[in-house]
Amino acid sequence: MRWLLTTANKWMPVAFLLMAGVAIAQFWSQHGPNGSDMGTYFHNVVVFLHAYGWITLGLAILAWAIAFLGYFYERERSSGGKFEGRGWMMDILDRLSNRRILEEKLASEPSAIFIDAEQLAQELKSKVIGQDAVCDDMAAQIRRRLALKQRGKPIGVFMLAGPPGTGKTYLAKCLSAQLQRKLLHFDMTQFSSGGHGASQLFGSSKGYVGSDTYGKLTAGLRDAPEAVVLLDEIEKAHPDIHKNFLTAWNDGFVTEASDGKQISTTNAIFIMTTNAATDAMQALSVTYANNPDELRRSSTNVLKEAGFAAEVLNRIDRIFNFKALSGLDIARVTALEIEAMIKNYELDVSTGGIDPDVLIDMMRRHDRLGKGASSRDLARSIEESISDSLIDAKQKGYTKVALYSDGNNVIAKPEK
Ligand SMILES: Nc1ncnc2c1ncn2[C@@H]1O[C@H](COP(=O)(O)OP(=O)(O)OP(=O)(O)O)[C@@H](O)[C@H]1O
Ligand SMILES: [Mg+2]
Repeated sequence: MRWLLTTANKWMPVAFLLMAGVAIAQFWSQHGPNGSDMGTYFHNVVVFLHAYGWITLGLAILAWAIAFLGYFYERERSSGGKFEGRGWMMDILDRLSNRRILEEKLASEPSAIFIDAEQLAQELKSKVIGQDAVCDDMAAQIRRRLALKQRGKPIGVFMLAGPPGTGKTYLAKCLSAQLQRKLLHFDMTQFSSGGHGASQLFGSSKGYVGSDTYGKLTAGLRDAPEAVVLLDEIEKAHPDIHKNFLTAWNDGFVTEASDGKQISTTNAIFIMTTNAATDAMQALSVTYANNPDELRRSSTNVLKEAGFAAEVLNRIDRIFNFKALSGLDIARVTALEIEAMIKNYELDVSTGGIDPDVLIDMMRRHDRLGKGASSRDLARSIEESISDSLIDAKQKGYTKVALYSDGNNVIAKPEK
């Protein structure tokens, strides 16, 4: 085949001439002067062409087509093209692999995902009270990152900083529920020692106790590569543990120590929470409320002073500053907490069913606890105030209740 094509290529000009000759002869035989006026030899050619012209023309076209293919073959060969020396017209992938399966697999690779940032922000804001700016910003960040087809890094590495009980952990939980991604929740206070903590997260090398079991993080990401990884209270983990996350954030994988396997982190979202340097961070978020670049720069400096390594901070995509809850937002969180508690007793609350006096009472108790009080203290005081009345209601067979204050205690009344 190669020989035929190379030869055809060489004879291509001849094929063209032949074709041109046939065309002229055809024309001549039909429209030219009578053959008998010419030499006998030429007359015979004309008679032959008249009789067999179409066959000759067909042969010429065939020669021309082969010559053309030869031309392309030569061109590919001289330009070092994909066919060179590898068999005519056969794709490298057909010869060395299976192109069809490869194409199918590539088509099914995760591609850019487009989400409605506004809808995500709305959903988050409806649950996480008083942190609208954080919810808007986070939804926009995630939308941009998900829309990138090639990332090579996690979808996001975010730090949520702010006072206790302002919804940092809660936002991470809401995000994972909203995006329908598994939550891998690590309480980083448990990893205050470097070596042992690292082996719990990333596995331990062969020969060590527990080397047959995967690390909690590596196993989690192996089973749910799209997880939201929550590193809660990250400042409490050993600084070496922080650095163990650098490959996860920079290179897009973590290495499981027991078998050396690399596990991708490119589809995961990492969220760290901290209440390190709360006062300084709060002051910055007020001062630079309208200057996000400066806010980021100075927040990074404050966290560096609080003990975070520069290379760790450099790899964080965004630091979100949570505001302390105030005014009606405390009442909203209180109402939500009360609703959650009522549901825990398998009861329902009627619309408008929480007496404002109950909320005011809770908020006063919360205030009395002082500046350091968090929504966790709030939850505790709610439980103390209302659980007895809810247990009574349950025993009486109520299914739906409304809560009133009689000045001293909260009373649950049945509702239709
Ligand atoms: N902004 C908020 N909106 C709605 N609920 C909230 C908010 N803040 C706190 N809560 C309620 O209080 C609970 C505790 O809040 P969360 O654990 O998110 O606080 P945190 O900011 O992580 O505090 P810490 O820094 O102490 O860990 C949540 O589960 C939630 O029910
Ligand atoms: Mg928390």
